Amino acid sequence: MKIDILTLFPKMFEGILEESIIKRAIEKKIVEIHVIDFRTFSHLPHHQVDDTPYGGGSGMVLRCEPLVAAIESVKTAESKVILMCPQGVPYKEGKALELAKEKHLILVCGHYEGYDERIREFVDEEISIGDYVLTGGEIPAMAVMDSIIRLLPGVIKEDSYKEDSFMNNTLDYPTYTKPADFRGLKVPEILLSGDHEKIRKWREEQALENTKKRRKDLLEK
Ligand SMILES: C[S@@+](CC[C@H](N)C(=O)[O-])C[C@H]1O[C@@H](n2cnc3c(N)ncnc32)[C@H](O)[C@@H]1O
Repeated sequence: MKIDILTLFPKMFEGILEESIIKRAIEKKIVEIHVIDFRTFSHLPHHQVDDTPYGGGSGMVLRCEPLVAAIESVKTAESKVILMCPQGVPYKEGKALELAKEKHLILVCGHYEGYDERIREFVDEEISIGDYVLTGGEIPAMAVMDSIIRLLPGVIKEDSYKEDSFMNNTLDYPTYTKPADFRGLKVPEILLSGDHEKIRKWREEQALENTKKRRKDLLEK
């Protein structure tokens, strides 16, 4: 998969691309990621990419020309262009699974007051990572990118994510590691039994109980 991230703040991505599972996925050539500064697509003096809103009001608005030029510089027939936007469709694991099948994603990050409305004509989808407003689309793009990359074949074992929260409309089962007794809090006996079938059933039940307790809405789907 190829991912192009269009942003005003490319340095924000340095950490995420240079650590842990994403770093390994890049090294293994499972994913190719480019961070593109749309300031380089501005023809204005000082490479300005924002301006004041028509009609007045506070904040600066990202202009269409540099953003669309940046999108068009990387877009092919196989690309899916996604706008990071609090007004977009709330992001869910199901969407991550769907996007993990794509060949090329272009993630567009807004900033300041947001985008000139006309940008919507040049994107395929709009994604919100939740009902709250962040300063920019960089953290949403990182969240979306991370959730997709971990699902790509060869990145992590399928076993490690197929029982994760949201994969079967339930939350994950509880997990424990050593020590077996921490300040009197004991690991459930069954996990020490070595009986794999009983452990499998217990986990299934626990996942259901966990979901009923914390996220009943998932079971109603
Ligand atoms: C301060 S926000 C703009 C908010 C906009 N004025 C509004 O109220 O809808 C700046 C940028 O951050 C990104 N952003 C902020 N919150 C987001 C969210 N919940 N999901 C996705 N992107 C978000 C978007 O790219 C947005 O254009």
